[in-house]
Amino acid sequence: MEKTLILIKPDAVSKGHCGETIRRFEAAGFKIRGCKMARLSEELLREHYAHLLELPFFPEIESFMQSTPVIALALEGENAIVRIREMVGPTDSTKAPEGTIRGDLGENVMKNIVHASDSTEAATIELKRFFNSDQLFDY
Ligand code: TYD
Repeated sequence: MEKTLILIKPDAVSKGHCGETIRRFEAAGFKIRGCKMARLSEELLREHYAHLLELPFFPEIESFMQSTPVIALALEGENAIVRIREMVGPTDSTKAPEGTIRGDLGENVMKNIVHASDSTEAATIELKRFFNSDQLFDY
């Protein structure tokens, strides 16, 4: 079993795709172990997207990610990290296949509905970034 970090991004929040996104994860058998809504600070975004800081359009990503609060989820399931990345699809929504979350609900590269951790190392770091241990639930 693995846990992974999902962020439901501002495009999904503003277009009303949060329910459909969560429904798909639950229908695939993943359990919600943590859930919170939060406004992302500049500091947190610079840490979370450290690998993109040098890109010329980083300010645009930052401003998009702060345009509404996001919903952070800790999801658990077998091979959750790889299986959820498959369900989410590639970064560019216009290239994401039908049936994937980004392919069905996303708009472009930036407005792509969700963030999902891309490795076990990233998941561990990102879950800690968004959840204190008393905000994660085993049941
Ligand atoms: P990245 O970590 O490369 O992709 P993913 O979310 O699929 O793991 O990029 C993080 C986010 O930054 C991405 O979801 C949307 C935004 N982004 C852009 O807006 N334009 C780009 O060219 C890239 C690479 C990312």
